[in-house]
Amino acid sequence: MCGIVGYIGEQQAAPILLEGLSKLEYRGYDSAGIAVYDGNEIKMVKSRGKLKVLEELTQGGMTLPGCVGIGHTRWATHGSPSDINAHPHFNKNHTIAVVHNGIIENYMKLRKKLEKKGYVFVSETDTEVLVHLLDYYYNGNPLETITKVMYRLEGSYALGIMFKDHPEEVYAVRKDSPLIVGKSEAGNFIASDVPAVLKHTRDVYFIDNQEMVKLTKDSLTFYNIDEEEISVEPTHIEWDITAAEKGGYEYFMLKEIYEQPKAVADTLNPRLKNNDIVIEELGMTDEEIRNIKKIFIIGCGSAYHTGVTAKYVIEGLARIPVEVDLASEFRYRNPIFEPGTLVIVISQSGETADTLAALREAKANGVKTLGIVNVVGSSIAREADAVMYTWAGPEIAVATTKAYSTQLIAEYLLAMKFARVRDVLSQEEMEGMIEDLKKLPEQIEFLLGNKEKIQHFANRYLATEHVFFIGRGIDYAISLEGSLKLKEISYIHSEAYAAGELKHGTISLIEEDTLVTAVITQKELYKKTLSNVQEVRTRGAFVLAVTNTGNTEVEKSADYVIYLPETNKYFTNSLAVIPLQLFSYYVSLGKGLDVDKPRNLAKSVTVE
Ligand code: AGP
Repeated sequence: MCGIVGYIGEQQAAPILLEGLSKLEYRGYDSAGIAVYDGNEIKMVKSRGKLKVLEELTQGGMTLPGCVGIGHTRWATHGSPSDINAHPHFNKNHTIAVVHNGIIENYMKLRKKLEKKGYVFVSETDTEVLVHLLDYYYNGNPLETITKVMYRLEGSYALGIMFKDHPEEVYAVRKDSPLIVGKSEAGNFIASDVPAVLKHTRDVYFIDNQEMVKLTKDSLTFYNIDEEEISVEPTHIEWDITAAEKGGYEYFMLKEIYEQPKAVADTLNPRLKNNDIVIEELGMTDEEIRNIKKIFIIGCGSAYHTGVTAKYVIEGLARIPVEVDLASEFRYRNPIFEPGTLVIVISQSGETADTLAALREAKANGVKTLGIVNVVGSSIAREADAVMYTWAGPEIAVATTKAYSTQLIAEYLLAMKFARVRDVLSQEEMEGMIEDLKKLPEQIEFLLGNKEKIQHFANRYLATEHVFFIGRGIDYAISLEGSLKLKEISYIHSEAYAAGELKHGTISLIEEDTLVTAVITQKELYKKTLSNVQEVRTRGAFVLAVTNTGNTEVEKSADYVIYLPETNKYFTNSLAVIPLQLFSYYVSLGKGLDVDKPRNLAKSVTVE
């Protein structure tokens, strides 16, 4: 999605803006631009293409002198990628400049009204409506003007705004799109995400919907929609600057795959105390936990896949009915909420529009909501009744890996906590499972140590066109994730199928040398899945099996076997996902693709 940066201070703004935008490239974009006040005018340069085009046009920012500016990377939604559709956008007299992340849903209606009043639009964007609306309401008071415009808007926005006759100030406001404010000795910042300001400051401010901030070079003033001054406490960011850099790996994705042992441990350990599971942030009494009648788990993409896993784990352990929903479907299917319902929304970014909307649907129905979120202070984290953070650290690669793995951990802990409180899991059983959980980081480390075998296998499949992932039960859940990983970074068509379902149609697609990956970790389903493996093999498939160590019987049926360390049957997805992530990574790498920024995709989909 789009990235916003803004700076006001003692230093030249343009190089700072360009550097900040480079830290937001992971959000996905197709054009970029910056605007800087040079003492007389607001000057702007913007262009289609990557940041390096903008750096060349501005000679690294040198052609735009000045200490106040805003910048933007655009992921096209309304209007194709082009120079003219790039942000910032000016009003007619170039006295106001705006950068925007989000979608103004009523922009066409507003555009027609403004055109009737003589405004001329030069771009196809919804954002241009904003700058003309600011111009229309402008009375010399930026706050009053912004407030008036806010009341006219429907949709989502994070805005950075400059007014030529207020050259010592930058303004920002948000609704539903992410925006943070940074304070440093050298000046003050706005940005879509923390990595853009980490080089300059660790003290950031998160503002809520329809709150505004006025930045000067040495002050921050926050306001609510009634233009009343409000106080906002800073959050101190613990991440190292390297945490948001590649750390020596070729791609962020590989770095993040290798960070999984630590991410899993960091998410797990603070919640294990004296052989018990302590989830203080849950904000539910044991009585409330005992009264849960049904759980909805909602998310998109990989987050949704962890929900499929969690269904098996929560129903298996805690015997609570679980319904898993795609967020984009949930809010439009008129869901039925009965007393005792808990809605859990899963989101790495905490800004996914579909998931945020599903959360709001649940809250509007008076249902208790819990967010499992990775980005501290994100919209979902702040709007859910309770939030259980995954401590994966910043995840930059578009394809999620460590955040996915930590979401599984959070879900295991919830399932075990619920089962223990509802007394369907004994203390002894729980302690045994806790020991298994504690081993996961080192077991993941072990699997990562065997990456060469997977890399070698992946290089045999660079030209393949179709791959199938099959499994039963919890093995089906991880097949969904393995298939998505391959599709999104290698552009190879892939499907995940419940192994028992293949014979009801899809098996017609299996032909000589079709690659089928069979995940076989559920002992009570071994035989059933092996017969499905036979079905595809007799039709010519080449079968890669991912199974538990010691299950050597699989070698009679599969062409290539990857063994996983022994763990509790409910935790096997945390191990099976490792070879599947590495397989996809090495196929994408072998095809020479941009592993971190796959085509058409964005790290956080903040539009519906
Ligand atoms: C996963 O690799 C994808 N990038 C995508 O499916 C992602 O999981 C989905 O968009 C949800 O994102 P979120 O967790 O930030 O809400």
